[in-house]
Amino acid sequence: MTLNFAHRGSLTEAPENTLPAFKKAIWHGAKALELDVQLSKDNHLIVCHDHKLSRFNKDAEGLIKDYTLEEIQQIDVGETFSEEFKGVTLPTLDQVLHICPADLLLNIEIKNIPVIYDGIEQILLKTLHEHDRLNNLVISSFDHVALKKVQEINSTIPLGMLFYYRILNPWDYASASGLNIQSIHPNQIYVDQTFVQSCKRNGYDIYPFTVSDQERYKELLEYGVDGVFSNNPEIFKS
Ligand code: G3P
Ligand code: MG
Repeated sequence: MTLNFAHRGSLTEAPENTLPAFKKAIWHGAKALELDVQLSKDNHLIVCHDHKLSRFNKDAEGLIKDYTLEEIQQIDVGETFSEEFKGVTLPTLDQVLHICPADLLLNIEIKNIPVIYDGIEQILLKTLHEHDRLNNLVISSFDHVALKKVQEINSTIPLGMLFYYRILNPWDYASASGLNIQSIHPNQIYVDQTFVQSCKRNGYDIYPFTVSDQERYKELLEYGVDGVFSNNPEIFKS
């Protein structure tokens, strides 16, 4: 079965990484969901892609890490998307986990570059444990040191290795890392048939990001990818 992840929820229909975006994706029947996590100043897991808040609210200066949870919950991130979402704020991971059905595969991406959040791995795993959500889960990051820390805390969690740039033989790098890598998550730009075959031959699933164009999606399926991260509901509900 192809597993297509709703990328940051359904971000064309609601502000990315917010409860309305996740609810839309679930409503569409997405089987898999991707979200990004960071830490507030007082160490709460905040679901957000950018370290800076300015893309979501031009009056919000600085970084997520500069704000407490209480302060973050005062910042409107919906109105820049549309008037309909005025008043929407960034959710905590806790809030997102409350609305995710148990059979929904979750990919939680630790956003640890360029800001590095000391201890985010421990806080993440504690939260997942409290929600009985250590199953049906892939934890990924561009920061492979963060993946190592996750594995040191819990060696059974499947890990996804993200690659933005084109490095030589990422499957060899993944094998040599000693990490419990289940899937390789490459930038879709450089994925071709040889790349997919090499991942599969080395025992890795492959989920390229971000694929929203139907023609490119079909091409990647023909190459044999196991799924994609997509902003397009027509793709992530298929
Ligand atoms: O996890 C896939 C994708 O989300 C990685 O890139 O920058 O959209 O978080 P980004
Ligand atoms: Mg992401």
